[in-house]
Amino acid sequence: MAGTTDTIVLVGFMGAGKSSVGRILARRLGRCFVETDDMITAREGRTIPEIFADKGEAHFRRLEEDAVGLLALKTGDIIATGGGLPCLEGRPAALRSLGTVIWLSGDFDTLYERAQRSGERPMLAGRSREEAERLYRAREPFYRQADLTVDTTALGPDQVAAQILSALAARERAAR
Ligand code: S3P
Repeated sequence: MAGTTDTIVLVGFMGAGKSSVGRILARRLGRCFVETDDMITAREGRTIPEIFADKGEAHFRRLEEDAVGLLALKTGDIIATGGGLPCLEGRPAALRSLGTVIWLSGDFDTLYERAQRSGERPMLAGRSREEAERLYRAREPFYRQADLTVDTTALGPDQVAAQILSALAARERAAR
């Protein structure tokens, strides 16, 4: 049963607001907030751009796989995943087995602009806008397998968090 006490897993493309929204949800629900990117950087002792530069994307994806294994040991946390983490055969189902998966969607232009504004992102460095959009389109079918979707295009993080909380409360009522 999905509800406000389950683990919540946020998925979506870079720029979707997974970290900001996750932090707000954790505060509102009194839960721990976990980011798979932080699990990886803490374990490796290096930043994400350093990991990509030194060992490449394939190595980073293996670290994400390890992180997913560790997430299975947690209950009730709010988890923000890296933008590429759900995008592997079988991964959406693995995430759904952890709790309620929520896709923070949005139109590509908006997400791309936000992603350009904040942080260094190796998956966008050296990719044209068109290439980044192709990556987004290829990832959509994976994100779409979430339990819930919130379109973040015209919303700020507080509004997205409020929509998630009311959707979860409605699901909880329906399941009673
Ligand atoms: C990635 C997204 C990043 C981070 C890494 C790879 C991706 O996380 O995991 O740079 O493949 O889309 P955000 O979605 O938080 O930017």
